[in-house]
Amino acid sequence: MRDFKIPPNIIYGIGAINSLAKYVNSFGGVAFLVTGRKSMKRAGITDKIKTQLLGKNVKTVVFDEVNEDPCLETVDKGLEIAREEGIDFVIGLGGGSALDTAKAIAGIFNENCSVKEFVLHDRPITKKGLKFIACPTTSGSGTEVTKNAVLTIKEIPAKKSIRHQYLIPDLAIVDPELTLSLPKKYTAGCGLDALTHAIEAYTSINAFEITDTLALRAISLIGESLITAYKQPENIEAREKMAWASNLAGMAFSNGGLGAAHALAHPLGIYFKIPHGIINAVLLTAVMKFNLDARKEKFIKIARALSKDKKAKHPGEAVERVGHLKRELNLNMGLHDFGIKRKDFPALAEGTKYSASIKSNPIGCGKDELIKILEMAY
Ligand SMILES: [Fe+2]
Repeated sequence: MRDFKIPPNIIYGIGAINSLAKYVNSFGGVAFLVTGRKSMKRAGITDKIKTQLLGKNVKTVVFDEVNEDPCLETVDKGLEIAREEGIDFVIGLGGGSALDTAKAIAGIFNENCSVKEFVLHDRPITKKGLKFIACPTTSGSGTEVTKNAVLTIKEIPAKKSIRHQYLIPDLAIVDPELTLSLPKKYTAGCGLDALTHAIEAYTSINAFEITDTLALRAISLIGESLITAYKQPENIEAREKMAWASNLAGMAFSNGGLGAAHALAHPLGIYFKIPHGIINAVLLTAVMKFNLDARKEKFIKIARALSKDKKAKHPGEAVERVGHLKRELNLNMGLHDFGIKRKDFPALAEGTKYSASIKSNPIGCGKDELIKILEMAY
């Protein structure tokens, strides 16, 4: 028996953000808008949302203190303000970091304790939190449709997810126009994150018909549009396809799982301060090579999805296609480019113990296998 869960409502389209107030009208009179420090404010999106909600007599409390790789303290600070202000629902606006922070605040608002209880002490989520609306401004994380929020524990350090179907957003508003101002390096990194989600979900041991369909379509869309979105940031058609790809890949991995690239991306990202999408780009081709023999037919389909002529015959062509993408996006780097040394490998392999992703990799990975992958990505 398989279980497939996604948000009950996904609003999609250019300018969709302008319909936000219409959809949240019944959620209550005080919105908590969680976002990053700069870009949405600078682009005037934060003010537009406040004005739009005010038109429906909804007051907005803005929490704009989310940094990249949000830590538990940021979530707890947001929770404290949210509880003081007596908010009714939460809106997340931004990339994966802002949305995951917002998701965690909404998800545990009614639990009457700190987020640390859930992340550090594995306390289970027992009740539905506040209504949560996710508005992504990047095409990568897919978190607007997933059931987990990735948070950083500074003390260890480690990244760990809180995960429950109650965390699935009540509403996702996917407006590709919000991604138009995304700088090139983020377009590339987020795009490779989405591709890693799709490929890992497609080759996961928990993949099934629905996740396969979504993941393979996401891979095709990325093949058709990522290089164009990177080279022509204002190309709305390419931005639309990437928004869809990220969304579909999010549904696929939230229900089908991920693999060794995501398991290793977390300790690498946290120990060496490498953005999530960039480190996935570095790891993806190595993990694909490692997994090649376990999913030969699927890798041929990935290669076909990523190429115009659809004529690939060998699994290894999938690795070549992803390598080509990485070169076009200036992401063709190895671990040594980030100052990582081979002596760091055992600690990095050990750091995967906080990630559930390793359990769904198509080939079982212990310490030796993880070190082999790191060597391949070096
Ligand atoms: Fe990711």
